[in-house]
Amino acid sequence: MADGVIASAPGKLMLFGEHAVVYDYPCIVTAVDQRMMVEVKLRKDKRLVIRTNQPGMSRYERQVDELGQGIIPKQAKFSEMLVSNFYSKFKVENGLEIRTDCQFSSKFGFGSSAAVTAALAMGLYELFSIKASKPELFDLCYKTVLDVQGVGSGFDVASAIWGGTIYYIKGGKKIEAINCGDYPLVVGYTGIKADTPTLIKQVAKLKKRNSEKVSKIFTEIKKITEKARTALEERDDKELGGLMSLNQLLLDELGVSSNRLDELISASCKNGAWGAKLSGAGGGDCMIALAGEEKKKKVENGIRMKQGEVLKVKHCAEGVRLEKRK
Ligand code: MEV
Repeated sequence: MADGVIASAPGKLMLFGEHAVVYDYPCIVTAVDQRMMVEVKLRKDKRLVIRTNQPGMSRYERQVDELGQGIIPKQAKFSEMLVSNFYSKFKVENGLEIRTDCQFSSKFGFGSSAAVTAALAMGLYELFSIKASKPELFDLCYKTVLDVQGVGSGFDVASAIWGGTIYYIKGGKKIEAINCGDYPLVVGYTGIKADTPTLIKQVAKLKKRNSEKVSKIFTEIKKITEKARTALEERDDKELGGLMSLNQLLLDELGVSSNRLDELISASCKNGAWGAKLSGAGGGDCMIALAGEEKKKKVENGIRMKQGEVLKVKHCAEGVRLEKRK
């Protein structure tokens, strides 16, 4: 058994298929090169201690035999539930020290919860010298996400584990790498934090009220996602951009876009992007655009002119990995 382990997992950006993926339609997601770093160490006592660089919680502590019970601060929920699920699965009861250090702000919607869950899961398997395949890591992490937030397709967990750009169906029914290389993506942050569970519930309500309309929208999103997969494989960026804009129209019909997103998306298209859309749950967080090298600067400036923040991230990043073993 190691004394301490450091593992890391990437953030993500949804490229196509958000919301529809919650209802078993496919999506496409890419991992970004900003990572969540997680260090895990054994303690001599029976306490779980979590230290983070997140706003609002630098240190949190509790007894190992109370894991998962009572009120848990939101910054500690995913880590504590993951430890609790791992400890029940493998009948472990050691004290544990966890230190998380996120290279991206949790406000961007890059999936810090999924990334911390994936990196911590790998850290624990390594610490206790238990072998785990990617599907095994995924099952433990997805269970944890559902235990904490009740809803979600698990696409962010799959992206954190597999990395690259993947084609995904809920619950890990399909996780397929898309061989696409580097495509010219621009990322703009609206300045507003989206609340994913609320937006998922909002779409669920709309689906209940108007099931036929929403099913038609999801079917159209599925067709776009399938075409996008081919466009990515064939590196037809112009086609891919057009598909992004079509996906955005459908997300708008679902009622999950916002004025800020619309402003940044339209600024991108006016400045020469091939297409643009929101990325993730909507309501805020980030938008993405696809633009040729000669237009990229103009598109970025267009986003800044509308008070958007251009985020310099590389996509197709590596999935969860072991950084260090002590
Ligand atoms: C949120 O980033 C994407 C959604 O599709 C939710 C999910 O898939 O879990 C809205």
